[in-house]
Amino acid sequence: MTYPNEGQLLDLTAQELLHTTRSVRLRLDFDRPVPDHLISECVETALQAPSGSNRWLMQFLVVTDPDKRAAFGEIYRDAFEQQYKKLPTYIGAVEKATPEANESQGRTTRSAEFLADTFHRAPAIVLACAVGRAEGGAPIAKTTLLGSVLPGMWSFMLAARLRGLGTSWTTVGLFQEQRVHDLFGIPIDSVTIGSMSPLAFTKGIDFKPALRPSPDEVIHWNQW
Ligand SMILES: Cc1cc2nc3c(=O)[nH]c(=O)nc-3n(C[C@H](O)[C@H](O)[C@H](O)COP(=O)(O)O)c2cc1C
Repeated sequence: MTYPNEGQLLDLTAQELLHTTRSVRLRLDFDRPVPDHLISECVETALQAPSGSNRWLMQFLVVTDPDKRAAFGEIYRDAFEQQYKKLPTYIGAVEKATPEANESQGRTTRSAEFLADTFHRAPAIVLACAVGRAEGGAPIAKTTLLGSVLPGMWSFMLAARLRGLGTSWTTVGLFQEQRVHDLFGIPIDSVTIGSMSPLAFTKGIDFKPALRPSPDEVIHWNQW
């Protein structure tokens, strides 16, 4: 497969797109700027996703300014080193059931650690936000709020892949949520950040389906 020409999309079937859109970290091309219009096209696709009560709560913050990227990179690195790495759910601390799965986990850990050191080098950083806060509300409030932005962000990532762009879902920066809000002027009492991703052209465009459980391991028919 070759890179699409300007204005074209990768020649992938829908099934291939859904099975090969990976978290890209080691293969982000930090030296190639991403044209604004490609980002707008990805947002256009994101906005086709569902939202609770059709309320259109999704907003995007796109960071291309090098100083702001540097400041965000510092927050992300601090959160990664000082908070995330100390948790039992740290990606490198999670034990899988087979040697093959543990090997894959090790590769992903190295990739995640690489991103923690290099986030600021991505030509763009995309924050997917929902207008609203759900603290103190019924559980359904949080589910609906996040559910109104996360599907859109995944659509953004699929649209990015079709354009030869790589993304990686991240939340670790939210260990330092206040700092992120302050840096970008996002009101913390009325806006929730759902996902923060680097955005860059990928080095090469061939990606593989990942190791996952089989459907039989995760489907509960009729009763849990
Ligand atoms: C809710 C959520 C939070 C995540 N947070 C981070 C993160 O902060 N940093 C990171 O490098 N990857 C993060 N990831 C990416 C996962 O590590 C990744 O999806 C997983 O390892 C599977 O790899 P794949 O996406 O390439 O299939 C996150 C993914 C999800 C869904």
